[in-house]
Amino acid sequence: MGRREPPAGSSATYTASPNIALVKYWGMRDVELGLPWNSSLSVTLAGIATTTAVRFVPGRKRDSLILNHRSVTGPPLEAVRRFLDRVRSLADLREGAEVVSNNNFPTASGLASSASGFAALAGAASAAAGLHPTSRELSRLARFGSGSASRSIFGGFVEWRAGAQPDGRDCYARRLFDEHHWPELVDLVCLLQNAPVKVIRSAGAMQGSVTTSPLFSARQSAVPERLRRMIRAIRDRDARALFPVVMEECDDFRAVCESTVPTLDYLTPVSRAVLAEVRAANSELGEPIAAYTHDAGAHVHVFTLEKHAEMLQRRLRQIGGVDQVRALRPGPGGHLVSSPAPAAP
Ligand code: DP6
Repeated sequence: MGRREPPAGSSATYTASPNIALVKYWGMRDVELGLPWNSSLSVTLAGIATTTAVRFVPGRKRDSLILNHRSVTGPPLEAVRRFLDRVRSLADLREGAEVVSNNNFPTASGLASSASGFAALAGAASAAAGLHPTSRELSRLARFGSGSASRSIFGGFVEWRAGAQPDGRDCYARRLFDEHHWPELVDLVCLLQNAPVKVIRSAGAMQGSVTTSPLFSARQSAVPERLRRMIRAIRDRDARALFPVVMEECDDFRAVCESTVPTLDYLTPVSRAVLAEVRAANSELGEPIAAYTHDAGAHVHVFTLEKHAEMLQRRLRQIGGVDQVRALRPGPGGHLVSSPAPAAP
């Protein structure tokens, strides 16, 4: 990673959007390096983003974090500090940092704030430290904050390649198709009332599945072919081919979670009613017009095409316990909003 000394105390701001995985990352082959067992595939979402400013303050020893206008301590600050330590060691810096981060959507609402959060932190902290990472390097760096953050560096349809090298050299995300590739594709995000707040980070929970789920190894055998089918369907903008495989993958991910000991049961009865409604709509219309997917939480994303979006949105809103249905589209990757001017020679 290149480095040019920025003026001391200068700040950088980076913005990144959450992504929703169509092929899930679930399980690490190397916990220390955050290397996944399988490659994953996601869509970066437009209109929602985390914007983060970082400043390494001369003479300061500790890091501070202001998230959505509130000072934050405890585990979230610890995770940020560990991440900044990595940036400091890459840039040979010692100063503590001031981190100010804002989400333009509810934090921990099921919209994957850790992905956009660590992508934005990686972009802002590396620029403030005078590093000049390529997007690929930035995606590798973001992974140390949160695996899914490696994908939010890119826009549109993104593959995070698991790679095979023990040092993670070949483990990075890359854009497959940009955000304009399939304008008819819509993600109807069903936000539930009183959804349980996520207490354990996925990075912790997923290793339980690796060691205890009897379904984990069959999943590893099935994912590569599923990923290929999905990439082909997205390339051809073929919803009929894509939607069944998205649901198959989500059902497999959920089966792995539920067969983990102790079980990981992320859905509520309302989430399950959303899945049932999508299955009902598909069977009534006699073709797959939509696909559900969810992460390690109760909210459900329903992918469909623009021409079915209004009808489906109406049906989903009628489910008791569904608070909001937001229509989101594929969006751009992370980018710098402001960066420090290089120091005068
Ligand atoms: C189910 O790497 O985002 O969303 O930041 O620790 O919560 P934490 O984990 P993260 O794990 C993502 C798990 C997933 C699937 C996915 O996004 O691929």
